Amino acid sequence: MNMVDIIMKKRDGGELTDEEIRYFVNGFTAGVIPDYQASALLMAIVFRNMTRREIFSLTAAMRDSGDVLDLSFIPGKKVDKHSSGGVGDKTTLIAAPVAAALGVSVAKMSGRGLGFTGGTVDKLEAIPGFRTNLSEEQFSTQVREIGLAITGQTGSITPADKKIYALRDVTGTVESMGLIASSIMSKKLAAGTDAIVLDVKCGRGAFMKSASSARVLAQLMCQIARENKKDAVAVISGMDQPLGLAVGNSIEVAEAIDTLKGKGPEDITKLSVTVAGIMAYLGDKADSIEEGIDRAMGTIENGSALSKFRQMILYQNGDDSVVDDPTLMGIAASSANVRAGRSGYISYIDALKIGNASRHTGAGREEIGDAVDPTAGILLKKKVGDKVEKGDVLAVVYAADQDKVKSAAQEAAGAFGISDHEQAKPEIVKDIITL
Ligand code: URA
Repeated sequence: MNMVDIIMKKRDGGELTDEEIRYFVNGFTAGVIPDYQASALLMAIVFRNMTRREIFSLTAAMRDSGDVLDLSFIPGKKVDKHSSGGVGDKTTLIAAPVAAALGVSVAKMSGRGLGFTGGTVDKLEAIPGFRTNLSEEQFSTQVREIGLAITGQTGSITPADKKIYALRDVTGTVESMGLIASSIMSKKLAAGTDAIVLDVKCGRGAFMKSASSARVLAQLMCQIARENKKDAVAVISGMDQPLGLAVGNSIEVAEAIDTLKGKGPEDITKLSVTVAGIMAYLGDKADSIEEGIDRAMGTIENGSALSKFRQMILYQNGDDSVVDDPTLMGIAASSANVRAGRSGYISYIDALKIGNASRHTGAGREEIGDAVDPTAGILLKKKVGDKVEKGDVLAVVYAADQDKVKSAAQEAAGAFGISDHEQAKPEIVKDIITL
C-alpha cells in the first residue's frame, strides 16, 4: 500500500477501504507517514467527504490506536456525556453529579479548553487540590464506590485522534462532518461506557453554525454508536450566546455550584437537567426521557446532586469548602465593567467573541501546554432579551492585570448587540435526537 495512491484515490472521489484507512491511521500515529501527506489526505476528505462506511472505519481505527477501557466489572450501565464544545459550558459539572445522584454510574473523561472553548478539566482544577489525573484503576474504583468520577483523558487513549486533531487544527481541516464525528466517537468508544449522551451545540460559538448541520452531525454520531452496539441520544442545544452567565474557570465552577443549589441561570439549569435526565433514561434509572428530566430536577431540589458533587471533590482530593463558599476559589485582582452604549434590548451576545475575550483574560490558552489563570474570566450581567438602559453593566471582566482587563473588555464590548425592539429569549434545548 502506498500513501500517494490513497491520497489520489480520495482526491478523485473514491471510497477508501478499511485497510487503506488503517494504513493511514497506524502509519501516521507511528510517525512513518509524514505530516504533509496526512494533511493532503485530510484536505481531500474535507473536499470529498467520506461515506458512512469510511467514517465507521476511521472511527474504529482511531479507537484501536490506543487503550480501550473495559469497565464491565462495574455493575450497571455506565453512561458518559459529551459536548461538541462551547462557551460557558459547565454542563458536565452539573449533569454528571445529578445523574450519579439518580444511581447512574458516570465514568467521565474530559478535556482541556482549546481556542475559544473551555474544558471541564481546567474548570475542575480551579478547586484547590482537585486531582484530574486519576489512574485507570483509581478512576474505575471511584466509579464503583460513589458512581461518579471525572478525570482528564489518559495519554494512552486514542493517540491517533490526538495527533490527527492537532494537525487538523493547523491545516484548516477541522470543519468536516465525518472527521468531527469520528474524532469525538473514537474517544467515546475507547472510554468504555455503555451509553452516551451527546450535547451537540449550534450557533455562533459552536463548530456547527446551524441547527440543521448540528442535527446531521448528531445523527451521524448516533449511527456510529449504534454500529458499535452502544446506546446514544443527542441533544441539540443553542450556542449563539454563552451558556449561563459565567465564562472562565473558578467563576464557572461557582455557577455550577449555584445551579446544583437550585439558584442557577435558567438556560444552564434546563440543559443540565435535560442531559442528566437522558443519562438516567439510558442508564435504566427512568422509564422515559421525560421521567428522567423530572427526577433530575428532583435531585437539585432535594440536595442529593450537590452532596454527590461534594463527595466527588473529596474523593479527588479537592477542598470541599468551596461548595459552601465558592469565593474561596479566588477571583483575579483586576476587573472592569462593560457598559451599554445605548438603551434597548439585548439582541445578541456573540459567544465566539466572548469566548475569545475570555481566553485573552488568561482563562484559556493561546497554545497547547499554556497554563490557564483559574481566577480570570467574564461574568455576564445580561442575556439576550434583557432590557437595558444606557450605562448599565453588561459584563464584568476579570484578569490578573489592567492591560489584559482593558483589551479583553474592549473585545467583550463588541460581542453585544442592542436593538430597539423586544427580543424573545432563545430556547436552549432545540431538539432531542434518538435513532
Ligand atoms: N471535538 C473533537 O473532539 N473533535 C473534533 O473534531 C471536533 C470537536
